[in-house]
This record gives sequence, C-alpha cells and structure tokens, in this order.
Amino acid sequence: MTLELQPLFPLALAQAQLRLDPLELAVLMQEVLALRGSAEGNPQEGCAWTGDINGIWQLHRLAPFAGVTEQLRRHSWSYLQQLGFDPACLALHIQRAWPVVSAPGQVVGRHHHPNAHLSAILYLNGDGSGRSGCLRLYPPRAMNELVPGLAVGHGGPLRGGSAAAQRWNAPWVDVAPRAGQLVLFPAGTDHAVTPNDDPEELRLSLAFDLVLSAPPAGPQDPAPPEYLAPHPSQWTPLEPG
Ligand SMILES: [Fe+2]
Repeated sequence: MTLELQPLFPLALAQAQLRLDPLELAVLMQEVLALRGSAEGNPQEGCAWTGDINGIWQLHRLAPFAGVTEQLRRHSWSYLQQLGFDPACLALHIQRAWPVVSAPGQVVGRHHHPNAHLSAILYLNGDGSGRSGCLRLYPPRAMNELVPGLAVGHGGPLRGGSAAAQRWNAPWVDVAPRAGQLVLFPAGTDHAVTPNDDPEELRLSLAFDLVLSAPPAGPQDPAPPEYLAPHPSQWTPLEPG
C-alpha cells in the first residue's frame, strides 16, 4: 500500500486572461505612464513607482479604466462564489486602485494589504517569462517544514529543486506576468515583486484593494452578520473636536 499525501488548507490564487484588444492595452499603458509623469520610483531606494502613495489611488474612477474595472467586477464575484460565498449576503467594493510601474532593477518589497480583504492585480505587459519581475506569494506559515527554518535555510536536508520539496515546502511561489492577466488572492497574503531584469521594459500593472461588507440593510432586514461590516453607506462619520 502506498502512502498518500493530501494537500490541506489550500490558498485560493485565481488567474484569468482578460479579453483586451491590443489597442485598449496600449491606451491603458499610455495612461499609466502619463499618470506617473516624470517620477521614477517611490522614495524607498530601488522601489517601483506605486500610485497609491503618489496621489493616484482611484484609478477605478477614471474613464479609460472603466472596461477593466467591469471585468474585474465579474471575476471578483466569480472568485467569491467559487470560495463558497453567497452573493446575496455580500456587497463588494473597490476601496483603492492604483498603477505600478517597475523600471529595470526595481522591486516591490514583501508586504500585504491589511486594510483590504481581496487583492487583485492586472498586468498590462509581460510575456510569461518572468523577466520583468514576478509576483512572489508567500505562505502564511511553512506548515510542512517540520523543523522551523529548514525550508529556507542553507545546507538543509531538502533536495534542492525536487518537485516534492517544491510542492510541500516551497518558501514562495512566483507568478510570471502576462499582458492582460488578472490575478486574485486573499489580501492578507504576503507578496512582493522580484526585480525587473529586463533592461528594455517598464513593467506595468494595476493593483486593486477590494473590501467585503454586508449589503445595505433595510428596516425589515436582519442585522448584518457579526464578522461582516455593515454597508459603508450606513456608517456615521464622527468629526473630531
Ligand atoms: Fe501589494
């Protein structure tokens, strides 16, 4: 009898190739470059330019991005439904959306999006080789390394490059961007962007922070579920003072 390993607790990474004609892609790329203007990167040395900290955080409200925002809407609901959520019990919001431009040599350091629930990225260019920088996703914890540090340390007992070690003890998984590819994953997942090693190409992507809430509640509706925020339209701002 053979011993079988069963993967438990899988992280839901979604990928979809959007229908974007080359002209639309070219327009989006031009728009992103215009929004970046003469900036070359974030203040942190070697970091790509990210619109979220440079005043460009509502991309979803700009007309040229309406088409991709609509495709994002459809795929996001599909993602939620495939995870088992009931759309009738949820509202979904784009909280923030911004462009990212990674010049040759630039990276985005490891981080996650604690303010959001679902993260989405749309790549405007990339040929699938990963040369212009990969999205690097980290597991919340190396659940199968058995000995803490074993999966990332030097000289350990894992066979380098073995499919088994990669499947059960990968310290990260890289996703190579491809033009028009949409990626979705839980916003709490640590991720980074590896260096753009293409001396010729600016790596262009759009990032979205999505938030789940309860739908707007009418007077006869039950209270929103305990772990879901009520719909933002039903919040009351409290002014200081
Ligand atoms: Fe991010």
